[in-house]
Amino acid sequence: MAVETVRGVQASEPNVHGYRSFSLGEFTFRRDEYFVYVKWPTGSHLMSADAFLRALQRDVAWQFFYGTVNFDGVVGTVNHYGTVDLFAGRYNDAYRKAELDHVENFETPLIMATFRAILEDWTNASFDPFASPHETGTAFGPKTGDNKAAINRHRVTAKRMVAVPGDEPVRSDATGFRINRQFLDVPQDAPEIIAEPGFEGEVNAFNLFAYLSRSDVTWNPSVVSACKNSLYCPTTEEYILPIIHGNDRVEWFVQLSDEIYWDVENRDTGAVRAKDLMKAGDVAAMPANIRHQGYAPKRSMLLVWENASPDLPGLISSGKLPINPVDF
Ligand SMILES: [Fe+2]
Repeated sequence: MAVETVRGVQASEPNVHGYRSFSLGEFTFRRDEYFVYVKWPTGSHLMSADAFLRALQRDVAWQFFYGTVNFDGVVGTVNHYGTVDLFAGRYNDAYRKAELDHVENFETPLIMATFRAILEDWTNASFDPFASPHETGTAFGPKTGDNKAAINRHRVTAKRMVAVPGDEPVRSDATGFRINRQFLDVPQDAPEIIAEPGFEGEVNAFNLFAYLSRSDVTWNPSVVSACKNSLYCPTTEEYILPIIHGNDRVEWFVQLSDEIYWDVENRDTGAVRAKDLMKAGDVAAMPANIRHQGYAPKRSMLLVWENASPDLPGLISSGKLPINPVDF
């Protein structure tokens, strides 16, 4: 790599397609008009540019999330909450057996700066990695401009709850959040709050369905309420979850509307474990040792319930807590 840019990011001059190449440790990343090429000392891998950018966008916006973010069955990251593993083939049985897998650990600020730089350089003006395919232009072709507004969206992280004074605001036309084309039938009324005298400033409520009907992003769990480590992270889903999420803790799913198909796999090998169709009203607990990817034929609402306790990964991996939250 010829050029070193700010914050330790290793980048080249633009190639003939207008895109810079990047290196991080022994990994290199480059793209052309259609594809992204990832290389490491024992192998290489190719992904469609749109799929790669959708996955990269989530990894960056979620700050590497809980556990494993697989971009696909080969490359991804594991969050150690201060450092991050970047891996290739590490959680893929065939790569492991062939000894082609590779993993490197980085301080979070370095891998974050590198991933941000790739996302910014490789996202064209026409592409919004958070949008559904129907609501964005193309990711392909030679480099044309950028889309910093889309890739640097504010991430909703309520400290107490949406609509509480001083916390995350409700959404409206006036704030630029219009009702999505597939949620035009969702009632937009607001709850009436009747507080006991003396408690007027301490009681609050908002219409979650109306709030979600105005989401302009897909597959992006955001915190709408927090009670200590218990986080309600609802999200609207359309097309394919751009990552395969590997859990380091249990995740509860409540399907609030429409349907999502789920593929559930062994987190460490990728072996198929379950196929599941969640319909409106269904509740599921994803075990702490699986990975999952969802498919939503129509925009749907999903409540993801996370426990953000930093103690959970250690308690589960040491066997002090079960991998299933409930036995039947
Ligand atoms: Fe997940």
